[in-house]
Amino acid sequence: MQNLVRPESFVRITNEALANEFIKEQVKVIKEQVGNKKVLLALSGGVDSSVVAALLAKAIGKQLYCVHVNHGLMRKNESENVVEIFEKQMDVNLIYVDATDRFLNLLAGVSDPESKRKIIGKEFINVFADEARKLEGISYLAQGTIYPDILESQKQAEGKKAVKSHHNVGGLPEDLQFELVEPLALLFKDEVRVVGEALGLPHAMVYRQPFPGPGLGVRCLGAITRDRLAALREADAILRDEFDKCGLAEKVWQYFVIIPDVKSVGVKDESRYEGWPAIIRAVNTKDAMSATIEEIPYAVLHKITNRITSEVEGINRVLYDLTPKPTGTIEWE
Ligand code: XMP
Repeated sequence: MQNLVRPESFVRITNEALANEFIKEQVKVIKEQVGNKKVLLALSGGVDSSVVAALLAKAIGKQLYCVHVNHGLMRKNESENVVEIFEKQMDVNLIYVDATDRFLNLLAGVSDPESKRKIIGKEFINVFADEARKLEGISYLAQGTIYPDILESQKQAEGKKAVKSHHNVGGLPEDLQFELVEPLALLFKDEVRVVGEALGLPHAMVYRQPFPGPGLGVRCLGAITRDRLAALREADAILRDEFDKCGLAEKVWQYFVIIPDVKSVGVKDESRYEGWPAIIRAVNTKDAMSATIEEIPYAVLHKITNRITSEVEGINRVLYDLTPKPTGTIEWE
């Protein structure tokens, strides 16, 4: 990550015309920096890496190689969307790696949240590095670094302690030291979104809610099992579908489902039915340092509860987390 300072003269990108100007300028800068060399990008499908991919595709086309690592902890249809948009629609060189088994085997039986995060972050780098070694003649590594990342790392350099270890591509092995391309390094998130739309990325991708690097891994609490992970993925998709339908998706900053490693007794088809509870979390925040709870209307909660308990195998209750941050963090792990 570069150590940059955003100049006061930098005009805030608030509309398509300003975004187009930024894109034109960056295309020139990237072409000059990269020449005819090859660039590698870890494309997670998040807003920042997606916008970098679209920008680099415009600047250098087939000199860009994107690697999408599916760690098996993505939300429903997320990896499929990355393939559809970047490979099929934008004709980008995309290496899709289904590493589900690698990740889930390493995580089997691991219940400590920080250990889980570390395993996921480390294995992500391992898988990405394996793919990078297979490609020949790569000179640059592109990253979706944005200005708040730079500010955050400056704060950490001053000795402030992080609450959780976040995962990011960084710390690649010694034999893979590339020069960096970070075209969004001076932008704030809202500007990245405006640039993304100007580059033709779908609204849903550009306005996607934040999703942690370790993905559903930190929402499938304790030791992850495939059956509970599958239930979490389905329940989360139902929550998102209902939020889309009632307009909450546009209003709420982050919303998702958590499934703890606990079963309770229930009843289904007149028989005892032991199942997990699905916990709904919906929060609003400006900077993720503190957060308040969205008051979801009862009718919506009932609809979500009915759908999750009837459509998702293994879930027999739905709970609603009313805890702000502090004292709860946004994620449960
Ligand atoms: P917490 O749980 O610490 O989360 O209140 C604050 C915000 O950060 C997101 N989050 C992550 N984002 N990598 C990320 O890129 C991570 O490892 C990670 N862990 C948490 C979380 O979803 C929330 O928006």
